[in-house]
Amino acid sequence: MKSLKLILALAIFCFLDINAKNIPIQKSSLVGKKIVEFIPTGFDQSKTPSLILQKEPVSIGSAPKSWSLIPEFTVKENKASATLKIAGDISLYGGGEVTGPLLRNGQHIKLWNTDTGAYSVEQGKRLYQSHPWVMGVRKDGSAFGIIFDTSWKSELYTNSTEIVLNTEGALFRVFIIDRESPQAVLKGLSELTGTIKMPPRWALGYHQCRFSYDSETRVRQIADTFRIKKIPCDVVWMDIDYMEGYRVFTFNKDRFSNPKALNDYLHQKGFKSVYMIDPGVKVDPNYGVYQSGSAKNIWVRKANGDEYHGKVWPGDCTFPDFTQPEARKWWSGLYKDFLAKGIDGVWNDMNEPAINDSELPESQRLGTMPYDTPHKGGGTLPAGPHLLYHNAFGRLMVQASSEGIMAANPDKRPFLLTRANLLGGQRYAATWTGDNYAGWDHLKLSIPMSITLGLSGQPFNGPDIGGFLGNTEPDLWGNWLGFGVFFPFVRGHACAGTNNKEPWAYGEAMENTSRIALERRYRLLPYIYTLFHESSQSGLPVMNPVFFADPKDLKLRNEQEAFLLGENLLVIPAFSKNPALPSGIWEELSLVNGDLSDKYQAKLKIKGGSIIPAGKIIQSTTENSFAPLTLLVCLDNQGKAEGQLYTDAGDGWEFKQGGYSLMHFTAKRNGNVVNIRLADKKGARNVEKDIKGVNIELIYKGKTYKTSGTINGNMQIELKN
Ligand code: NOJ
Repeated sequence: MKSLKLILALAIFCFLDINAKNIPIQKSSLVGKKIVEFIPTGFDQSKTPSLILQKEPVSIGSAPKSWSLIPEFTVKENKASATLKIAGDISLYGGGEVTGPLLRNGQHIKLWNTDTGAYSVEQGKRLYQSHPWVMGVRKDGSAFGIIFDTSWKSELYTNSTEIVLNTEGALFRVFIIDRESPQAVLKGLSELTGTIKMPPRWALGYHQCRFSYDSETRVRQIADTFRIKKIPCDVVWMDIDYMEGYRVFTFNKDRFSNPKALNDYLHQKGFKSVYMIDPGVKVDPNYGVYQSGSAKNIWVRKANGDEYHGKVWPGDCTFPDFTQPEARKWWSGLYKDFLAKGIDGVWNDMNEPAINDSELPESQRLGTMPYDTPHKGGGTLPAGPHLLYHNAFGRLMVQASSEGIMAANPDKRPFLLTRANLLGGQRYAATWTGDNYAGWDHLKLSIPMSITLGLSGQPFNGPDIGGFLGNTEPDLWGNWLGFGVFFPFVRGHACAGTNNKEPWAYGEAMENTSRIALERRYRLLPYIYTLFHESSQSGLPVMNPVFFADPKDLKLRNEQEAFLLGENLLVIPAFSKNPALPSGIWEELSLVNGDLSDKYQAKLKIKGGSIIPAGKIIQSTTENSFAPLTLLVCLDNQGKAEGQLYTDAGDGWEFKQGGYSLMHFTAKRNGNVVNIRLADKKGARNVEKDIKGVNIELIYKGKTYKTSGTINGNMQIELKN
């Protein structure tokens, strides 16, 4: 039996080999610090345009002779593949939005953006976004990353001996980054694909969403309840039911008759509003958006020239062909009047694009446009079939949306959330992990999912906390929010027909638990904002895997319950009983009254050698966090610590002209006395304007020592042994 299997395997292997044509590499060149570009012979940019790179990289010389990671390209029946042989014990990560474990050795995913509600691990092989990207970490902590620069429909295999990308399209380039650490590799990824834009401060607060808060009255009630109950929150979201018959860029005449007044009301109470916009435009000759898109001739058309129609919420829809520059320009232009109603942020959904074709027999359903549907292209993009552009549809849509939002409000930072995207799309939009459900498996999965997105270039992400589909039990909510408040993006969301899922919906005890969790988030905003600033500069994730604390410590490599926020704060969810933790000094932190005794709150540990800036408890980011600023200090075994605080106006672009302040704090122990001071300050922003005093909390051997002072003063604490 065994030998029969062997013969069969050999036969399959030979068959593949005979049919696959090996393609020599025409050019390999160094494009940046330890980044090599491999171009297979026959590569044609008019067949595989790059939608992933931010700009064409400039070649600066030939790849070093010693370069060991070299892809092999093959083409079989016009389908291109690339294979990288890897040797030694290598931990693999990445692949973007995926289910399954953090450690990707032995995994296989399909890169074909798909609306996959309630994804099981098996179905989750294909989710809403495509990230043809793998990062490998060697035993010595050095690392490499591979970009397969294609948007063609693909499958990615991450095996311990080889990494393979099989596409259903033409040849593509491969970029390999090989550097001293995983962090340095992620910086390399952002050098090629860009970073997130610095978000407005309010986007880092808590977001409350539901499908749908379906009237102005209900939205006001939700906002009022947060303030009455003193539960911090910054944003209320409008899902599709605010629209008139699901027509994008319209408002329901009865239930949302005065969106400007509603948004003004929210603003007065310290809230911002985010509204949904889908790509499908209702086919309706009496509807302005359909009329103007038709006049511009920007719809996706079938090969016979007819408009392509697909069913989404409003019934039959047309879709802008976002590959056309004129279509993107037209779409961008729609945001001006829309945002003028006082809308602060935009949510692009269903942009895989997801199409309801349930009337077709099951075997014919694609859930999206037929593969051969033509896209016209234009500018740098060639004409090509949906098979090429499907994975870039959401990415091109959010490019257009983000440009439209910025043109409409040039003095504000855009906030845009998208469901579909492509590797590199972080430069246009934040993301969430789609339609999860209210179950323990999805609660646990949300951690490796979110970390993996960060390890794939998308730091600004998070799940629907509490679970979107299905009813949420109080216990599940408490557990999820208890650590969920430390995700980069923190939003509670709920599907139509499910129970109420606001923080007060689960009874008084859980309301208190929710308040504690959210107060912890808000206390840490100065630190989180500093991390986002760093990420917008360097591409480093905000939420990190625990192994980032020590990439050489192999036992940390598959820890996927505990995680790091930045480098200095370890988050251990309440459910996590035996996580692998980094060695060294990590002291437990309390941030608000009652957090240590509440069984739902994650345990927080500050790293020895660090200073974490925290603020006071505020109800929204319209209040000043720094009244006072608190510095949480934990010494290393040399008796030293340091940390940074970044501040700016919280919105707008003044920071680009020097209107920011980046403060560097140090602490040093001398005998029993610890001196803490502001050692350095960059930027022209007047710090004293914001910071009304400084509290120091030094955690040493389990005890907290406190003092207070002023930002420019030298503060001292005496330790008692
Ligand atoms: C699907 C999205 O994933 C979900 O978050 C949203 O509530 C519904 N569409 C309705 O717009």
